[in-house]
Amino acid sequence: MLGLQDVTAGYGDTIVLRNVDFRVAAGEVVALLGPNGAGKTTLLRTATGLVRPRAGRIEVDGQDVTGRAAHEFARRGVCHLPEGRGIFPSLSVRDNLLIQARGRRLDDAIAEATELFPVLGGRLSQTAGSLSGGEQQMLALSRAYLTEPRVVVVDEASLGLAPLIVDKIYEALQRLVAKGMSLVVVEQYVQKALELARTVYILSKGEVIHTGAATDISSDEIYERYLGTAT
Ligand SMILES: Nc1ncnc2c1ncn2[C@@H]1O[C@H](COP(=O)(O)OP(=O)(O)OP(=O)(O)O)[C@@H](O)[C@H]1O
Ligand SMILES: [Mg+2]
Repeated sequence: MLGLQDVTAGYGDTIVLRNVDFRVAAGEVVALLGPNGAGKTTLLRTATGLVRPRAGRIEVDGQDVTGRAAHEFARRGVCHLPEGRGIFPSLSVRDNLLIQARGRRLDDAIAEATELFPVLGGRLSQTAGSLSGGEQQMLALSRAYLTEPRVVVVDEASLGLAPLIVDKIYEALQRLVAKGMSLVVVEQYVQKALELARTVYILSKGEVIHTGAATDISSDEIYERYLGTAT
């Protein structure tokens, strides 16, 4: 569905990703793991058109989209949920959803968005910036859902959230997968990511150093071998 072949990318003179091969099949969940600064965010940004690669090829559904703008990736159903969530903090929850309603009636858009997280239904008039961190993440996911994405790329969905909220976010991600969407998650809770993912990529210093089935590796092994910390 989405694939990077031999991609090199960076910022200015700095090369961050080197010869990266990465792919997500339709309906697949991929966990992208690696230490801080490994280039995970840069990979997600490159895979969604926000960073243009210097070399290599990016495909969506077998079509070459290398060098295309982010909105063209979005149009093909590639949705990016950035770290920090990408919501409009000064707008109300309702208006945040309205922006993504795209021709739907607002009531319908709200009903769809709040299907994932009913709690948002009671917070429509509140500014998004005044929601709790967990609610902001829920709003971000609901907005993504409204774009009817085919693959959602989620950067650190659980950052700074309490375990119970993290579980809720992951339940919602699971529901997106059950509806047939593909998912790429960058996640600090390795165990959580492994529960959801079929495939694991580990990135270190901009290079993919491990690719394999999630069932073939344990979180302990990942911490010890790749993240340099014992659990
Ligand atoms: N806009 C930028 N300009 C220049 N360098 C950048 C930029 N964004 C990231 N970098 C550098 O690229 C490298 C990889 O950063 P990236 O954010 O992709 O890593 P990461 O794996 O997501 O890390 P973390 O786990 O801390 O989020 C880092 O050395 C970082 O300083
Ligand atoms: Mg990052």
